[in-house]
Amino acid sequence: PLVSMKEMLVKAKEEGYAVGQFNLNNLEFTQAILLAAEEEKSPVICGVSEGAARYMGGFKTVVGMVENLMEEYDVTVPVAIHLDHGSSFEKCVEAIHAGFTSVMIDGSHHPLEENIAITKQVVAVAHTLGVSVEAELGRIGGQEDDLIVDDAEAAYAIPAECKALVEATGVDCFAPALGSVHGPYKGEPNLGFARMKEIDELVGIPLVLHGGTGIPTADIQKAIQFGHAKINVNTENQIASSKAVRETLADNPGQYDPRKYLGPARDAIKATVKGKMREFGSSNRA
Ligand code: G3H
Ligand code: ZN
Repeated sequence: PLVSMKEMLVKAKEEGYAVGQFNLNNLEFTQAILLAAEEEKSPVICGVSEGAARYMGGFKTVVGMVENLMEEYDVTVPVAIHLDHGSSFEKCVEAIHAGFTSVMIDGSHHPLEENIAITKQVVAVAHTLGVSVEAELGRIGGQEDDLIVDDAEAAYAIPAECKALVEATGVDCFAPALGSVHGPYKGEPNLGFARMKEIDELVGIPLVLHGGTGIPTADIQKAIQFGHAKINVNTENQIASSKAVRETLADNPGQYDPRKYLGPARDAIKATVKGKMREFGSSNRA
């Protein structure tokens, strides 16, 4: 069923695993992610950035695609459709109106007071309708679609500010920037585990790890231990799918039927997602 993230993340945090947010880029990503979740018996979060929604034909198109595939595939595991890095109150409302079951309001580029104010507005609307809300503090480095944060701007979240934001807004889950990066890492990731532990103890609600691509398993396990119940992955699926397309076309230079090269891309995404679900511990938890 289509649900908010609320219950799935509370359960994950209690039981010590994380639910994956896998970003949708097109039809094949959506198919692969839903099939992987059903086969793994894992809850799943379909992440949709504003840029990806534009590419796919708008929020309503995305909701229709997910709902119809869930029916076609007889999906029984819990699925959330989540706006990733929502840029404004208006965009969050638009996504909720289209049928999204969860939204992130990313006010991390605003000063704290403004971030709190805008997040509160989103929570007021979302919670009235049973939609869950994620907020962010600090600045996650790297690039995802329209969102570009260079090394100088990237900043770790401040624990006292995290506590203030979570308490003032009543969000369901929270993404403190702690050194993770969108897109491939330049060298090894350097996550601030001491600060992570401190923030987890201060806020209590499920934490969200953005930039899940390229984080070693040992660090993933530590992040889960220190309160992370949601891990976002996009780039790793993009890399796996484009590699499959490149290999297929290199082996068959005359191939022109998209189904013949996007089918292998879909298989590669599905295998990657299943691997992540096992790594995050969400398999057989639905
Ligand atoms: O919000 C989406 C994620 O944080 C994706 O990060 O592309 O580095 O896996 P990633
Ligand atoms: Zn992100």
